[in-house]
Amino acid sequence: MVKIAPSLLSADFANLQREVEKLEQSGADMLHLDIMDGHYVPNLTFGSTVVKSLRPYSKLPFDVHLMVRNPDEMIPWFIASGADIITVHAETCPHLDKTLQTIRSYGLKAGVALNPSTPETILEYVLDKVDMILVMSVNPGFGGQKFIDSAINKISKIKNMIGDKNIEIEVDGGINPLTAARCISAGADILVAGTAVFSGGDYARNIDSLR
Ligand code: DX5
Ligand code: ZN
Repeated sequence: MVKIAPSLLSADFANLQREVEKLEQSGADMLHLDIMDGHYVPNLTFGSTVVKSLRPYSKLPFDVHLMVRNPDEMIPWFIASGADIITVHAETCPHLDKTLQTIRSYGLKAGVALNPSTPETILEYVLDKVDMILVMSVNPGFGGQKFIDSAINKISKIKNMIGDKNIEIEVDGGINPLTAARCISAGADILVAGTAVFSGGDYARNIDSLR
């Protein structure tokens, strides 16, 4: 069954503890934490201090998505904050192989994110060092954007590429019940959703409708 990873980007930032607790009670499988630095992407969100402060309030895996210009400098902070998965954008890591090895050396899962314009071929020589591949189905920076259709073909290609390796495919951006179904048939294992989980306030019902 597909896993649902609500993105805290759409949460009430004045009540993050309550939001995290409510998401866990509503059946979320993991918590997606969007870290934006205002440089790699135009928007700014929060840093490792906030992640660390939320850690005691949830048993869910913390899925940290780094949309920052200098991930190598920040990775140690997020390891210390209690993250379970750290995902870096392939485009931000000049030595991607080394970055993935560093994340894994601390016992965390390592993820690679691909922007809509980034080809999956960039993964070819790091497949043995990656636990999750994050297919961006919008250009990163903001919630509430329209799903970019070319992500579907990319998911299928990655699914073929990984064969029987133990690697999960996560899709992020513009996920709603319709796009979710298409991603699942193409081979997605984890769906990130902000707008679709938070809209209307019934998180449990929204999460169910994505499965
Ligand atoms: C976009 C973020 C996403 C975002 C998804 O840059 O990486 O995680 O929160 O939001 P929705 O589900 O609203 O597209
Ligand atoms: Zn994200």
